[in-house]
Amino acid sequence: MDYEQKFFEKVWKNVGDWKNQGGAYRTKISDQIVDEFIDYLKEQKITKGTVLDIGCGGGRHVVSFSKRNYSVTGIDYSNSAVILAERLCKEFGLSAELEAVDFLKYKPKDEKQFRISLDIGCLHHLRKKYWNRFRDQVYRLLQKEGYFCLVVLGSESKGIRGYGSGQDKTYILDNGHYTKFFSRKELLDLFEPYFSIEKCFSVSRGKSKQFWVLYMKKLNIVKN
Ligand SMILES: C[S@@+](CC[C@H](N)C(=O)[O-])C[C@H]1O[C@@H](n2cnc3c(N)ncnc32)[C@H](O)[C@@H]1O
Repeated sequence: MDYEQKFFEKVWKNVGDWKNQGGAYRTKISDQIVDEFIDYLKEQKITKGTVLDIGCGGGRHVVSFSKRNYSVTGIDYSNSAVILAERLCKEFGLSAELEAVDFLKYKPKDEKQFRISLDIGCLHHLRKKYWNRFRDQVYRLLQKEGYFCLVVLGSESKGIRGYGSGQDKTYILDNGHYTKFFSRKELLDLFEPYFSIEKCFSVSRGKSKQFWVLYMKKLNIVKN
């Protein structure tokens, strides 16, 4: 287990009451973002199909999709997170496939591919050396013309300890816990050769946090 995985294991273990399933990450803003993405899918006439939630944590977004009859797989490399997600699904009487596994090593049963995938807050905790692998995994695991919703912290975030004005770094390392603040360009450089960017917009939470939200559609042929 690397440091980051240990960190998240501790976070989810300490959430305590499973009903507090988002723990430290339970922000209304990302619930809203996911609801809006589901509305967008509806506009595209995608009202069912398989969904992969990457770094599903306590399972709140698994529940959002499951409730609307999508067939959801949630993965997270924290065992404690997956246990919370299982309890949450049980409480709602929903079934989802949940697995404790590192996304970068994830191989679904039967080489299954997904219609939809989402990452709400996982990529910005991956070190730069893993970004291409992450992107390649998302691409590989999506069906033809599959959709991917990405939410990451943005470089316009301010006033976060160790990050902000006067800093030339675009990440923080808090006792070894890595958080990256992405610029729009970094995200487009990473994803544009592989996905058509259907939407890319910024949302803010309070005065301190800015997030990038991207809706992407898998390209048939990767651009050089
Ligand atoms: C900020 S939390 C967000 C959780 C959830 N998506 C939500 O919005 O409530 C990030 C999650 O990503 C998970 N994670 C980070 N790196 C991962 C990896 N390589 N494979 C699987 N899960 C990972 C962490 O364990 C953590 O639960």
